[in-house]
Amino acid sequence: MESDLKVSDQTMTVYDSLSLELGERSYQILIGANLINDAGAFILPVLRQPRVVVITDENVAQLYLPNLKRSLSSAGIGHSEIILQAGECTKSLSHLESIIDQLLMQKIDRDTTLIALGGGVIGDLTGFAAAVVLRGIDFIQIPTTLLSQVDSSVGGKTGINTKYGKNLIGSYYQPKLVLADITSLESLPLREILSGYAEVVKYGLINDAPFFDWLEKSGNALCEGDKALRQQAVMTCCRAKADIVSQDERESGERALLNLGHTFGHALEADIGYSDTILHGEAVALGIILAHELSVTMKLCSKEVVHRVKDHYQSVGLPVSPSDISGYNWNPNRLISQMKSDKKVKDGRLTFILTKGIGSAFIANDVALEDVRTILAKATNS
Ligand code: GLY
Repeated sequence: MESDLKVSDQTMTVYDSLSLELGERSYQILIGANLINDAGAFILPVLRQPRVVVITDENVAQLYLPNLKRSLSSAGIGHSEIILQAGECTKSLSHLESIIDQLLMQKIDRDTTLIALGGGVIGDLTGFAAAVVLRGIDFIQIPTTLLSQVDSSVGGKTGINTKYGKNLIGSYYQPKLVLADITSLESLPLREILSGYAEVVKYGLINDAPFFDWLEKSGNALCEGDKALRQQAVMTCCRAKADIVSQDERESGERALLNLGHTFGHALEADIGYSDTILHGEAVALGIILAHELSVTMKLCSKEVVHRVKDHYQSVGLPVSPSDISGYNWNPNRLISQMKSDKKVKDGRLTFILTKGIGSAFIANDVALEDVRTILAKATNS
């Protein structure tokens, strides 16, 4: 993996660039301000033919589609668009079918490229449509949320939800290019920024203690809108993720570290019923704190580590205990049932990402349900 700072010839746009190395499926991740305005020039070299279909949602379309279309036209790239309603409900088989029908109606061919313009929902859905239509066509990610810039747009996980759970239909299918435009974060409400920030912190906690130190100093300014700090953080997270994915694309080992806090977080989201009561990143922040509590209970790390993580999440305004989720009735038994259906349980034991300290996370396949129940019960009164 290489990274460096570049200046676009066409526009003098300054951006960071790194490559995710996966042999012939390697691709560039560009991170900088106003990249959407110059997207055509960056995209043209990776296209098989100068024709794309942009898939986006109605909110993002209003904000960024006109500029994207302008830059595609200036670069001589033919384009059309499919605009979906905003929200998780579009990650479904029926919306996938409708997208594929529209693509086929527009007579796309195997050299047409899809562009995902939006957050994680649009990225996952577009990537999966690209993976299956005509047995696979190229796609490009233009993530417009912090969460999608630091996580879902990189690494090729694509998919849709079913009535049995989230992301249960999908594939590993890598994009041809990722353009993370830092300027697009300016239109996000603070709550959405914080939801993405929970995942930013995750990278420090997995294997980069100096990054966590840096976030303790810079996190507040970053969340409040400092562009240079945001660019630096997105770059650090994408570099960390690219490093892990290039070694373990299909999560047979190390990639599972990226699930730190997610076993708890997914159980919480499922129990609450995937609503605005808790955003994904908020559930991940709580999940990460619980994973650290579990590590203390199992005598793997000190209490000070949990306090540091909790204090940091609290200082930026993320929820850190069940009482921070208004209107939700925390129930350890229900959460355990959710975990059992989310993960494979073997002899009453679950897989978790645990830690020996800040930046020292590891995969544990033998966690006793009783220890999990203990920390969930303890959290009830926190
Ligand atoms: N979001 C975790 C992963 O991409 O593996």
